[in-house]
This record gives sequence, structure tokens and C-alpha cells, in this order.
Amino acid sequence: MTHSHLFSWQRLQQQAEGLLSVSSDRISNAANLSALLYQELTDISWVGFYFLQGNTLVLGPFQGKPACVSIGMGKGVCGTAAASGKIIRVADVDSFDGHIVCDADARSEIVVPLFIRGQLLGVLDVDSSLHDRFSEDDEAGFESLAQVYLSSID
Ligand code: SME
Repeated sequence: MTHSHLFSWQRLQQQAEGLLSVSSDRISNAANLSALLYQELTDISWVGFYFLQGNTLVLGPFQGKPACVSIGMGKGVCGTAAASGKIIRVADVDSFDGHIVCDADARSEIVVPLFIRGQLLGVLDVDSSLHDRFSEDDEAGFESLAQVYLSSID
């Protein structure tokens, strides 16, 4: 493996900043960020966005298999992250009470709630078929990428 193939959150953040700088459209930028993450991260089975409409999280742009189109606030990992306003990192989805199975292959998951000026916009959801795929560093990485996305559409 050559050095250029080593994964770096810093490099991914720079790529995201470049990619999202050409638009401020929340759908276009969610679509391109999903594609970038799916391409650059290893062992990711699904990555995408849910946007809040009323009191429901509605499926937005994503990469991976077809997914649940609507998730109630407080439901599943996504709805719990949205309702609590906190990032949720699940090492083993089978042990998360209320986890919504969209893809039977998913083993671990991380969900980042997205806020614009204090208002919940939706969530960024990332799934892996590996157990405990997401580290604390990954959590910080996804949190800063979420900020890149939010700044790009603000
Ligand atoms: N597992 C998620 C549902 C969304 S999908 O995995 C794409 C949840 O429990 O919220």
C-alpha cells in the first residue's frame, strides 16, 4: 500500500470542503458528501442523510442498499440521536434496543444529529457490516465532516 492510500480524516475533511464549496444546496451537498464517504471509507455498508419533516425523519441522499424511508423521532438509532441531539455510536446494533433493521448486514452504526442555528435539520447515518467499526476518532471525524456540510449549506 502506498502512502497516498492511507486513510486520514484531515485529508477527507479537505476533500469534503473542496467538494461542498461549489454549492450551497442541502440535497446536492448531502448527495456528494454521501458519495465521497462511501468511496473513501473502508467497510461502510450504508451512508446517508435523513431530513426532519414535521416530526419524522425522511430519507435523503445516500449510498448503499435501499433503506427505510421514514423514521419517527425517538425511534431507532437515528430517531434517538435526533431526539437527544447527541451523536450515537453503536458497536453492536443487536444490543441497541429499538434498532431499526434496514439492512440485515449492518453490525455497527454511528449517527450524527445535524443542527443549523439550533434547529434540527436531520441526521447523518453511517452503517458498517463490521462489529465495532467506529472509533472515538471516527466520531470526531464524522462530527467535523457534519460541520463542513452544515457550513456549506448555511
Ligand atoms: N438502523 C437505523 C435505520 C436507518 S438505516 O440503517 C439506513 C436506525 O436504527 O435508526
